[in-house]
Amino acid sequence: MGVLKIVEWPSKVLETKAEEITLFDESVKKLVLDMHETMKHENGIGLAANQVNVLKRVFVVNIPWVEKDGGEEKQDWHDKAFTFINPVITKISNEKVSYQEGCLSFPEVYDFVGRHERVTVEAFNEKGESFSLEASGLLSICIQHELDHIDGIVFIKRMSRLKAKLARSKINKYHLRHKTNV
Ligand code: NI
Repeated sequence: MGVLKIVEWPSKVLETKAEEITLFDESVKKLVLDMHETMKHENGIGLAANQVNVLKRVFVVNIPWVEKDGGEEKQDWHDKAFTFINPVITKISNEKVSYQEGCLSFPEVYDFVGRHERVTVEAFNEKGESFSLEASGLLSICIQHELDHIDGIVFIKRMSRLKAKLARSKINKYHLRHKTNV
């Protein structure tokens, strides 16, 4: 197992559609383990394979339960490690939600993105077993964000033109500052 390097935007791999897994072998299990370890190391709640420079339709999710005053109740999906391989959304709700999202590939960028309140997703785990999951709340938002990643869609593409422009300038400044510090 090992922590992998996170690819940051504007790397091209983040805007390239990933390919399906056709063989569920040891390399897939290793990738999934490394992705879970990397996500935990970076304090992320979701991570797509594109973000570790692998163009495969794989993403992982693990949303820690954080107790907040008057916040959401703990759900059964909190603190649970999910692995989605070759995922397909089979059902979406019409209700929309907007949540302030962040992304490990966009340090310091946080903004509201519109998503469907509820989604049903069919996928495989790392053993090649299929499953179906109906998700709502933050889990649903996270699944939609990660599924976008493997389709090569970064979250600033879901923002208004003005917000996306602000996000791009923020990330450019971040990279400049980062280079200065090195
Ligand atoms: Ni992301």
